[in-house]
Formats: sequence, structure tokens, C-alpha cells
Amino acid sequence: MDDLQNRTQEAVAAVSNAASLDALDALRVEALGKQGWVSQLLKTLGKMTPDERQEKAPKIQSARVAIADAIEARKAAIEAEELERRLATETLDLTLPAPQTPKGSVHPVSQVMDELSEIFADLGFAVKTGPEVEDDWHNFTALNMPESHPARAMHDTFYFPDHDGEGRRMLLRTHTSPVQIRTMVAEGAPVRIIAPGRVYRSDSDATHTPMFHQIEGLVIDRDIHLGHLKWTLETFLKAFFEREDIVLRLRPSYFPFTEPSVEVDVGFEVVDGKRVLGGSGDAPGHGWMELLGSGVVNRRVIEFAGLDPDEWQGFAFGVGVDRLAMLKYGMDDLRAFFDGDRRWLQHYGFSPFDQPTLSAGVGAPIGGRA
Ligand code: DAH
Repeated sequence: MDDLQNRTQEAVAAVSNAASLDALDALRVEALGKQGWVSQLLKTLGKMTPDERQEKAPKIQSARVAIADAIEARKAAIEAEELERRLATETLDLTLPAPQTPKGSVHPVSQVMDELSEIFADLGFAVKTGPEVEDDWHNFTALNMPESHPARAMHDTFYFPDHDGEGRRMLLRTHTSPVQIRTMVAEGAPVRIIAPGRVYRSDSDATHTPMFHQIEGLVIDRDIHLGHLKWTLETFLKAFFEREDIVLRLRPSYFPFTEPSVEVDVGFEVVDGKRVLGGSGDAPGHGWMELLGSGVVNRRVIEFAGLDPDEWQGFAFGVGVDRLAMLKYGMDDLRAFFDGDRRWLQHYGFSPFDQPTLSAGVGAPIGGRA
């Protein structure tokens, strides 16, 4: 067994001096490979008497472990040396142009939300968010839609099977309007916010997906009236579509959370067979398209949120972000927004270096200026 110890020491010493990974591997094969001397010794165990095996097996095993460990350690050392050597010889010329690598792009929905945030920030609006998993009080009741309200049924709501720990009925929010309530409850008045985000309804075809995006607007202050709403929407749409000739038509409508409620149509003209916002609406070849819902915040909503409706009034609006993106950038199938097809993303996506700012223009050109 002295012989085994000597051989092991020699092997470990040789391993520690191995100059390269190839040399190291040759040493590994010599000792631990199928025909290696340690492997051969291990094979002799089978023919030994139990006593003899009990004495020799641990020694052979520890020789194997000692050599294997030495190889492992030397391998790590050689690799580290090689890396050091490479780093010492390589230089990086930072003045060279960046290599062509696959690039990600900013999704049009993100881009449009950023454009909207930029436009509304300029008008003094803060950006708020709320939870996508909502309770039915915030999503419905506080927005003046009690349990029995028919509007609840129209929302095709995804409910969770169980109530939460406090006995609340939970759902995926069907609109961004609950952020109105959350903001008023948390911050009181005055309020001037927009709330962009995901909303969910059980609906699916070329113009509806079960998840889509809305942006909510809410202004609460003293003596607010419909004129403020109209000016705000006009200013926002002109900035967003980058056209001065955006005309609005306010039509009476009904939403439980606004009174009066108005549906807002925008004038369009037809250019190359496509509807483009702008123009006079009523002229021949022009028309009106329904764009968003809005109104004066219902007194009951202000009360639900804990404010005094005799002191505070406001207006609110809600608009589909995906729809705004389609109108501005010309996509016609909403489903493609959420397919994650790289060709679509490359074509309609935006460069991360091309973020909307009012000074540079909120209308980045579409498609791979990346
Ligand atoms: N929450 C409404 C919906 O999803 C949209 C809406 C209409 C929001 C009128 C408003 C509003 O804030 O005033 O259909």
C-alpha cells in the first residue's frame, strides 16, 4: 500500500504541474480513465476476500478521490489563468460601431401609453395605477353599479371562484375606472390623474381580446363643468394625433358613474381607403367615429369615495389604448397585438431610443427606426 500512496502522490504532483487542459486530460485518462491504473485497482476489489476488501477498498477510493480533486482544482486554475491571459491581450475599441445584434422593440401599446403620459403630464396630470385583481366594490358598487345593476352583466366579468379573506367578491377589473375611486379615497380632492393599464373581459374576436388596455382620466375640483372636459379631450387628441384639425362631437349617452354622460366622436377623413382622424366630420367624404366615453362624475360616485359632492365636482373619461394605437399607427387586427410575433413587433415596434417627449414630438415614426 505504500506503493499506492507513492503512486497517488506522484499522480497528484503531476496533475498540479499540468501545463494545459490537454495535458491534464491525459493525466486523468492515465489514472481514472476506463483503463487507468486506479480504475484497474478498483476492479481487483471484486476478487478479494471480504477482509482484504475491507482493508484495501477505502485506500483505493481515497486515492481516486485525491486524484479527482486535484484534477478539478487544477482545471479551475488553468481556466482562470487562460481567462486572465485573454483579458490581458484583448482590447476593446469603444469607437467602433456596435455590432448588429438582434434588437428588442417597444410594443406600440407601451409607446402609446408613454405618449399619453407625456401629453397629460404636460397638462398637470399625475399617472396612477390600481390592481388588476379588484374587488367588486371598487370595480362596480362605488361606481354606482349596485349588485343588481344591468351594466354589471354587460361587462362580461371574469370572477374569481372564492371571496377574499375579508369576504369581498374578487374579479379581474373590467375597466380602469376603479382607479378613480382608489385615488379619491386615498388622496381626497382636488384630483387630476390619468390611469393607464390592463383590463379584462370575457370577449374575443378581431376587435376584442380578453385582455386589453384602457386609460382613465379623472379631474376633481371646484366648479368643474363639461367645457373643461371638452377642452381637455380636444387638447389631448390634437397632441396625440399631431393634427390641429381634430374635431369632436359630444353625444348624450349613459354611464352609471357619470351624469350627464357623453360619448365622444371624432371626425375622420378617408385617405387611401383608410380612415384618418382629422377633417371636418360633416363634409362629404368625411365622417364621425366613436372614440371614448366620458362625462361629469356622478354625485353618488363622489359620495362613495368619501367626498362632499356639493363641494367637489369633476369629469372623467375612459378610452381604449389599443384602439388609439390602431388609429394612429394603422394596424387593423387587435389580436396581433398579443401574439408576440417577432415580425409584427419588428414592424410596428418602436426603438427604445425613440421615447416620446413633447419637445421631440410624441409621434415617433413606426417600424424599426431602431
Ligand atoms: N369605464 C367605461 C368602460 O370601460 C369607460 C368610461 C366611460 C370611463 C365614461 C369613464 C367615463 O371614466 O366617464 O366602458
